[in-house]
Amino acid sequence: MICVSISEKTNDEAIKQIRAAEKIADAIEIRLDSIEEPDLNRLINSTKPIIATNRKKGEGGNFEGSEEERISLLIEAIKNGAEYADIELSSGKQAISKLIGEKGKARIIVSYHNFTETPESLDVIIDEISSTGCDIIKIAAFANDITDNIRMFEAAKKSGKNIIALCMGEKGEISRILYKKFGSILTYSIMEKGKETAPGQITIQLMKNLYRADKLNKETQILGTIGKPAKYSRSIFMFNPVYEKLKLNKVHLKFEVDNLAKFLSEIKKLKPAGFAVTTPYKEEVLKHLDEIDETAREIGAVNTIVVKDNKLIGYNTDGIGAKRAIQEKTVLEGKNIVIIGAGGAAKAVSYVLSKENCNLRILNRTVEKAKEIAKKAGCEYGSLNDLGNFDLLLNCTSVGMSPNESETPIEKKHLKGIVMDIVYKPIMTTLLKEAKEQRCETIDGISMLLHQGIEQYRLWMGIEPPIELMRESLWKSLSEKQ
Ligand code: ATR
Repeated sequence: MICVSISEKTNDEAIKQIRAAEKIADAIEIRLDSIEEPDLNRLINSTKPIIATNRKKGEGGNFEGSEEERISLLIEAIKNGAEYADIELSSGKQAISKLIGEKGKARIIVSYHNFTETPESLDVIIDEISSTGCDIIKIAAFANDITDNIRMFEAAKKSGKNIIALCMGEKGEISRILYKKFGSILTYSIMEKGKETAPGQITIQLMKNLYRADKLNKETQILGTIGKPAKYSRSIFMFNPVYEKLKLNKVHLKFEVDNLAKFLSEIKKLKPAGFAVTTPYKEEVLKHLDEIDETAREIGAVNTIVVKDNKLIGYNTDGIGAKRAIQEKTVLEGKNIVIIGAGGAAKAVSYVLSKENCNLRILNRTVEKAKEIAKKAGCEYGSLNDLGNFDLLLNCTSVGMSPNESETPIEKKHLKGIVMDIVYKPIMTTLLKEAKEQRCETIDGISMLLHQGIEQYRLWMGIEPPIELMRESLWKSLSEKQ
């Protein structure tokens, strides 16, 4: 059940939101504490079940009156037909018993909130809530580390009761999406950004349309992008629509990771199928893997992990992604290719292209670094002034990336042939814009992003990727500016 939380100042505004929410949500939580003089008769009148909540201050609420008034309003809400009422554990046994005594057909949620941490004693808290005789246990605690979700998951699993167990904050997002895997009976979301009633809530559109949270279950296989930050990852838009279309019981998440070793060991409890790895972990991850594919070992970086028989196997699809993006436009054979840059991306791309029948030259601001990777790729190198003759120029630096959109690694007058950029934010970089003005053919960074993702899919699933579907999903997300 996906529940939309509604927290508005006036009855009219709340009712407007309820009408909108009942079109898409399975249940609606009305935060009575946010509404000045709530009109229960009008508010508790929906086609969807209503959860009446009247939060006190200190538990993230705004209720101004006395405790007695607070509980009375909940009892009134039940009398007006609310299917659920939420009361905080901290309200005390007496208040909780009073509400339970008046519940009639409604179901009582007894809730615990911790806005600073996910405490060690989750089991003890769950037992304490359970002992109140409530119908549903709710425990919501702030995640300071992504692995706090795993502790929450384990505690919820053990409880064996009707439970809502979630972690709050950005790092708790996965517990909200995976609520069914966590054994929770519902998850909370919002109608639009900015309407959060607790930290880390995401919109019901993302919850339902992108992650299909209500369709996931205990068997759902988990994949995700490991990074810091992970929030800018576009992989969620590339993979989740494919899982939906192909009816695969899988989900791609974002893992905001602070401690890679701890994360990789804890996440195994959820039996994940694989990971994408992004900045800053592509190199650090190597020492945590059980096996490393030869290309990734040679490049010295991993952007893909396949989990097989509980073993972590590392691959690198960045180089092959660039290669496929080029091959979509032209043949590699016999081409003179100039790679600009000598960082991780340049390393991956030059290693893969060095296996092809083309001539490579690596140019970098710091020539020493170009020399190092040119040695591995067995090719020429130089400074940014050594452009010489080329058919294809490939920018592997971050120059031109937002917010430095006006920058470009190579002056316009030198551009010719095919110009490719691995930067995809913005899609039309200054380099590509100027290349077009010089009547060059261009290959944008989205093509490489797509193709490295296609290769990841191939590794994770072991089957031929639905290329057009992935392309369509990625472009759709870009046009929707999510
Ligand atoms: P990644 O691993 O993502 O490729 P990186 O390792 O930080 O990123 O590499 C960045 C590359 O962009 C380097 O080749 C860097 O040049 P230096 O080796 O001289 O540092 C290049 N780069 C970054 N900013 C640049 C700039 N303003 N002009 C030219 N090259 C630049």
